[in-house]
Amino acid sequence: MAALNGAVENGQPDKKVPQLPRPLRSLEVKYTKIFINNEWHESTSGKKFPTYNPSTLEKICDIEEGDKPDVDNAVEAAKAAFQRGSPWRQMDAPSRGRLLHKLADLLERDRVTLATLETMDTGKPFLQAYFIDLEGCIKTLRYYAGWADKIQGRTIPVDENFVCFTRHEPMGVCGAITPWNFPLLMLVWKMAPALCCGNTLVIKPAEQTPLTSLYIGSLIKEVGFPPGVVNIVPGYGPTAGAAISTHDNIDKIAFTGSTKVGKLIKEAASKSNLKRVTLELGGKNPCIVCADADLDLAVECAHQGVFFNQGQCCTAASRVFVEEQIYPEFVKRSVEFAKKRLVGDPFDARTEQGPQIDQEQFDKILELIESGKKEGAKLECGGLAIEDRGLFIKPTVFSEVTDNMRIAKEEIFGPVQPIMKFKSIEEVIRRANSTEYGLTAAVFTKNLDRALTLASALQSGTVWINCYNALYAQAPFGGFKMSGNGRELGEYALAEYTEVKTVTIKLSQKSP
Ligand code: NAI
Ligand code: MG
Repeated sequence: MAALNGAVENGQPDKKVPQLPRPLRSLEVKYTKIFINNEWHESTSGKKFPTYNPSTLEKICDIEEGDKPDVDNAVEAAKAAFQRGSPWRQMDAPSRGRLLHKLADLLERDRVTLATLETMDTGKPFLQAYFIDLEGCIKTLRYYAGWADKIQGRTIPVDENFVCFTRHEPMGVCGAITPWNFPLLMLVWKMAPALCCGNTLVIKPAEQTPLTSLYIGSLIKEVGFPPGVVNIVPGYGPTAGAAISTHDNIDKIAFTGSTKVGKLIKEAASKSNLKRVTLELGGKNPCIVCADADLDLAVECAHQGVFFNQGQCCTAASRVFVEEQIYPEFVKRSVEFAKKRLVGDPFDARTEQGPQIDQEQFDKILELIESGKKEGAKLECGGLAIEDRGLFIKPTVFSEVTDNMRIAKEEIFGPVQPIMKFKSIEEVIRRANSTEYGLTAAVFTKNLDRALTLASALQSGTVWINCYNALYAQAPFGGFKMSGNGRELGEYALAEYTEVKTVTIKLSQKSP
């Protein structure tokens, strides 16, 4: 059998097996301070906060704890960097694109370091951080690097005595508040379009996972972005986060996280300067498997769809609806997959599932699992924490789930697969749509008519047909209903980072 990691077999290196990247086992964390004006600062209050490794529960290091005065300093720097005549405003558009390409080059150079830091801080499997998170970051930076010199207004015909055109201008200082499930990727989804349009940024990473965002600060400086263009203030939500959402000199805010905090941010925006807000919030995403589906494909996609990233995905396939004829077989195969899923050390190349992010999420998931048992769902496997191993939870499958159960209604954000049964397409459309969320949906069928009927009837920002989590930098992503406002990625995101200005000129009536 071919060995992993391109190992030596029978004394000969196995040329057919590509070398897998290896994590840096003893990586020293270099960047723990507040990044303003391309310099590292201590917190104004003198306070620090710890960040932990969720697989060992050990403290990794202390981080400078930003609060309102630090956010004020960051906003002042970002505002100055955006002033007319500043190096950033004078830079031509292709040069902005070139800086984003250089940043992508440095992410490629430091890919192992960044993936190692992400694994230390989040507990996600190293190979997933390397191949999925970092790949997404690099592609997103390059995609928006290409847009920098292609953002154009329009000429609008009015009457013959006037000329009318639009300019698509940067908005100013953009706030970015990011979550802990994909810390670097969610940052890049905001940073790349904001910078390509010519804005400046104040970023607050999630308190659980500040390390990769701070490392990006060092790369921003190395690339040569002018001081103040990107500022990073680590800290807590109700303090540093709220200082961003209520700030009168922040023109726009992009947030990914819980629906509860999304509402707070919109409220803060309306109570301060009416800054523009884009929100990417929760989901309770239907995954519909019709009886004619390729069963192997559907079972595997539904499994990966819900268990990927320890179940901590806004896109998680957390309501699986299976047509009744194939229900028993689908459940049986899904349980086999879940039982085989390897849970353990995220630095081990074989590991598929690491620990949950923190005690709060771990407790929330176990409480929801208990509610499923009490409310009468059938526990097929898992259902417990892995004893003596910190924050690890066994991959859990529930069958005989009904729509009124909490596990069918609430975002679990953990390794729990609730499987429901349906009889007709009209019924499954109604049930799939009866949720306050509308982020993603997936459909498995070989019947084109069914696939397209469902694609048009499902109320969600994304519909995947015969695939799952197929995300591209060039395709927009965002939610209907309470899954959010606005779109990230693709050409659509450019509108979220630009203001449209109409310029109208009256021509002289005299003959020239
Ligand atoms: P959260 O919404 O509190 O955290 C996300 C970010 O918001 C963090 O940077 C946090 O510091 C910041 N924040 C918190 N309170 C804030 C405030 N008052 N003003 C401004 N910023 C604030 O999410 P949390 O508590 O970590 O997780 C709770 C649940 O949210 C999860 O169980 C999951 O259901 C959902 N969630 C969804 C995510 C997604 O990808 N859409 C990501 C993370 C959590
Ligand atoms: Mg941490």
